[in-house]
Amino acid sequence: MTDDLDAQLRPATAEEWPALVRAMSDAFGNTPSGPHLDSVPPVAEMDRSLVLWDGDRLAATSGIYSRSLTVPGAVVPCAGITWVTVSATHRRRGILTAIMRRQLTHLHEQQREPVAALWAAEFPIYGRFGYAPATSRGNLTGRTERLRLRSDVDLGSGRVDVVPKETYQAAATAVHEQLRRFVPGNLERDLRWWDRILRDEKDDRDGATELRYLLHTEADGSVTGYAAYRLKSARTDGGEPDSTLIVEEVRATRPPAYAALWQLMLSIDLVRTVRAPMLSPDDPIRLLVTDGRALHASPVDALWVRLVDVDRALAARRYPTPIDLVIEVSDEFCPWNAGRWRVSGHPAGGYCGRTDLDPDLVLGIEELSAAYLGGVSLGTLHAAGRVTEVSPGAVTLASTAFSWPVTPWCPDEF
Ligand SMILES: CC(C)(COP(=O)(O)OP(=O)(O)OC[C@H]1O[C@@H](n2cnc3c(N)ncnc32)[C@H](O)[C@@H]1OP(=O)(O)O)[C@@H](O)C(=O)NCCC(=O)NCCS
Repeated sequence: MTDDLDAQLRPATAEEWPALVRAMSDAFGNTPSGPHLDSVPPVAEMDRSLVLWDGDRLAATSGIYSRSLTVPGAVVPCAGITWVTVSATHRRRGILTAIMRRQLTHLHEQQREPVAALWAAEFPIYGRFGYAPATSRGNLTGRTERLRLRSDVDLGSGRVDVVPKETYQAAATAVHEQLRRFVPGNLERDLRWWDRILRDEKDDRDGATELRYLLHTEADGSVTGYAAYRLKSARTDGGEPDSTLIVEEVRATRPPAYAALWQLMLSIDLVRTVRAPMLSPDDPIRLLVTDGRALHASPVDALWVRLVDVDRALAARRYPTPIDLVIEVSDEFCPWNAGRWRVSGHPAGGYCGRTDLDPDLVLGIEELSAAYLGGVSLGTLHAAGRVTEVSPGAVTLASTAFSWPVTPWCPDEF
């Protein structure tokens, strides 16, 4: 291995996939499992991977998935960064930095995705590269004896059925496709991604059952909601049932369908605890129950976002209130973003271009990336000293225009 790390990075071949799997498992400290140990999984894009070999040892791995990310008012191409590992023997020599630089430079030069996103194994890794948490998962949990739906909740006239996986996947795909375009942070799911999401490996169940699938069907036969959950059975020392229901996903196009799916899940015999780790901290279930305190949320950072190109990314989203101001952005890692940008936008469109005008706000790329999906307030970042207001009132104006009525949320870890 030489000092010129960039020159040694190259895409992996399909034949090298088993070596990638081993290297990733070593770095993440798990035992490789699943159907794709020896063959490249359908979601993988080997030509977008970058690896570094040191002799016959695979020292570093990384990949990019070509995804579509919902942002406020639009859907944009998004580079889903994945497979990031550097072996224990090669860490802290700048290999990750070289990978990050190559990925972002390439995306910029080739005018590929204007935005990159990832799930961080550890919080302190990615901020230095301009990534910031832009969504949270709610980690909801509560005891079922306190989780009753309000008496005024409309449960509609539909039906909830337990269905086989194949029936579920087809119907859930259609429901998801209707919903995902309106929730910033959501990602598209084609057949390959649905297959991966529903793979349900035994090793990933942590002692719980396999997934059980529910569909909500209206009186006219249309499917308006779906849910997938597992059960983890347990008993107290006194022999009382103490099982946990783990909600993997629950979504519906109509409020009564959503309520009906929850009503069924909250009434399953022997269950005493409900957990929903991946749901939004702002999930409507919190407003459906009689005792809002009974469902605890402990939000954790979820999808991290990085604007690859400030101008392309800001022009791609929509703004709920009119905005026209100048931001001065610092971005040491991607210097093409540094400088002053005029941002204007409204509910039907956005514009962002270079300007020499004096700035109204000064901020770093991390802060802008955090605020991009509308879930992190520029006002809060200002209160933390991470955004500087030059023109009086600019923070209020920008915070309002960068917000969005739908809380960003990403249920798909990759
Ligand atoms: C995280 C990982 C990829 C870092 O790779 P690396 O090649 O050692 O990173 P670099 O040498 O480029 O480090 C760049 C900087 O980030 C810091 N850094 C890297 N990983 C860090 C971590 N986990 N926590 C805190 N800081 C970290 C380094 O200290 C260094 O800081 P410096 O520039 O101030 O010296 C590697 O340690 C790893 O594979 N870990 C296990 C798997 C994992 O967590 N992967 C990430 C999946 S999202």
